[in-house]
This record gives sequence, C-alpha cells and structure tokens, in this order.
Amino acid sequence: MKRPIAYVAGTGRGVPKRVMTNHDFAALGLETSHEWIVERTGIVERHIASDTETTCYMAADAARHAMARANVAPGEIDAIILSTATADRLLPATAVDLQAELGARRAAAFDISAACTGWIYGMTVAEGLMHTGVAETVLVVGSEKMSAIVDWKDRSTCVLFGDGAGAAVLKRSKPHAREGILSAYMRSDGTLAELLWRPSGGAKIPFSETVLGDRSSYVRMAGREVFKHAVRSMSDACDRALDGAKLRGDDIDILIPHQANVRIIEATAKHANIPMNKVYVNVDRYGNTSSASIPIALDEAVETGRVKEGTTALMVAFGAGFTWGSMIVRF
Ligand code: ACO
Repeated sequence: MKRPIAYVAGTGRGVPKRVMTNHDFAALGLETSHEWIVERTGIVERHIASDTETTCYMAADAARHAMARANVAPGEIDAIILSTATADRLLPATAVDLQAELGARRAAAFDISAACTGWIYGMTVAEGLMHTGVAETVLVVGSEKMSAIVDWKDRSTCVLFGDGAGAAVLKRSKPHAREGILSAYMRSDGTLAELLWRPSGGAKIPFSETVLGDRSSYVRMAGREVFKHAVRSMSDACDRALDGAKLRGDDIDILIPHQANVRIIEATAKHANIPMNKVYVNVDRYGNTSSASIPIALDEAVETGRVKEGTTALMVAFGAGFTWGSMIVRF
C-alpha cells in the first residue's frame, strides 16, 4: 500500500468542567498524598465528569470542534469510530448515540474496545476503510468516563485516571500528497489480560449482589507489572513506527505518547532517542484518560502551535489487553 492514504483534517477535545486535585482525595478518606501521587506518576489534577457529561456528550463536544477545524459537515462523514472502555450502555454501541447526536445521517458507526490503545487502533482502521474505498471522511474519537469504572476506595488505581474526549477527522489524501499517516503499528497480548481488567460485570460473570459486594466490576491493576510492560511495549512500538516510515528519532518533531505516567513517558522518549523538549506531556493536568489521552494531547499541541503544517509526529500507546500501537503522521 502506498502512503499517505489519509490525513488529519482537524482535531478537537471535550473535557469535563470539574477539576479534581490530588488534595481532594483527602476528603474521600483515602490514605494518599499529593506528594506520593506527583512523585510516582506526575499527576497533579484530573477532570471528573458530572452525571450529564456522559461518554457520548464528551465525544460530541470533541467531535464538533474537530469537524469545525476540518470544515466538515455531519452529512459528509462516512464512518464514526469511537474508542472507549466506558460505553454509556452495553448495547448498542455508544458510537451510534454519537452518530445520532451529530446528525451524521450517512455514517456507519461502531465502538472499538482496545483500552488506552483504542484511538490508535481506530485511526488505523479508519485508514484501512479509506484504502479499500469504503470511506472518504472518517471521525475517530476516544472518549472515556474512567471515573465511572474505577474503585474510589482503591488508592492504588483511582488516583491515576481522569475523564475526557479527543477527536480527529481523517480525510482521504490527494494523490502525491506528502502529509498524512506515514506508518502504523498495532499489537496485543491477551495472555496478560488479568494484569489490568474488570473481572466481573460482563456476560461471563454478570452483575449480582456478590459482584457489587466484592467490588470486582471495578478496574483492577497490577501496577508494577503494567509499568514494566508499558515501557517495553511502547519502546517497541516507537521502533516499529519509525522503521515503517523509514525515519529515525531525529526526524520526529514531536512525540505524543499515551499519558499514563510521566516516568513511562520519559523512559519511552529515551528509548526512541527523542529529547523531552520534543515530548508533549499533559498527564499532570488530566491523569490517564485512557484512549482519549493522545487525541486530547494532539489537539492541545495543535492549538498551541506545537503541531503545525509540516510537523512530523510520533504517537504511541499502551493499554489493557495488553494492547499497544503507534503511528507517525505528517501534518
Ligand atoms: N497513595 C499512597 N500510597 C500508595 C498509593 C497512593 N495513591 N497507591 C499505592 N500506594 C502504596 C502501596 O500500597 C505500596 O505500599 P506498601 O509498600 O506498604 O505495600 C506502596 O505505595 C508502593 O506501591 P507500588 O505499587 O509498588 O508503587 P509503584 O512505585 O509501583 O507505583 C504506580 C505505583 C504509580 C501505580 C505505578 O506502578 C504505575 O504507574 N504503574 C503503571 C500504571 C499505569 O500507567 N497504568 C495504566 C497504563 S495502561 C492504561 O493506560 C490503561
């Protein structure tokens, strides 16, 4: 396949109004501290959605900004791909709520479940739809209401996550264009699924009094194991994306990694030989917003001029599954 096939025509983000700082955990009676959280993760605050700021609501907010930037009307969208680990309901997909909300009458719409890597997976699927001629214009959104699935009594997980949405409109590239997706890479290893998971609440172990009592429908994570795999897999994914685009670390203008933990980000950048002044970091202000984290960061980078025409960006993600993936885009 001859690239680029698809380019990013516009980005957007939709973030809940309420900000929760590390100090606010004291009010929940959690034994934690601002110092512990900052030192281990780099997180200072995160946005937490209200009841009305649903996964679809945040997605629509992000999507409308991206469509305005791309100058794309709802009726022009051929497909909507929504990555989320926090669907508003289990059937049907939240993507169809978004399709209805936007009035994107011609669009196919479906969710992708690949945890924090979901938006990179979605971008890659969108590029594939363009390659086969199924779609010309695709909206790819990552929207996550992590506050609804974390255990607010578990200090080892609830301090890490936040809510929000990010979006991009992808359009089919003109022949011989230079801008667009230069390479993409996706992997998974389901043998490690239970290192970061929600044990119950699905079809295998449906909700019951027992599930509510043992809190097993909330996110559980083996933090240290996840940390090790995240660094290894994100480093591998950087190498593969660079190889795929026939580029080196020096050729990258900006690295936009999944924002889970500043120490994971630093280790990944070091491996890819990209100095920290070329790395976009906002985990301090958002925490880990799962698959929304890269498109939120990308949109901020566009808004602040760190990503502009001619910028070559490397995006890399890792998440539950485990899943991991990467993509190089020239803007
Ligand atoms: N406040 C204070 N103490 C805490 C907290 C907290 N919020 N959480 C845990 N601790 C305690 C533990 O109980 C433990 O105490 P003990 O030694 O008495 O048992 C101690 O701190 C050390 O705990 P560790 O888990 O060993 O701490 P570590 O240095 O590994 O940091 C962390 C934990 C931050 C979770 C780290 O492992 C990490 O970042 N892992 C990756 C997590 C991640 O990024 N997940 C998401 C990636 S994938 C995705 O995005 C879906």
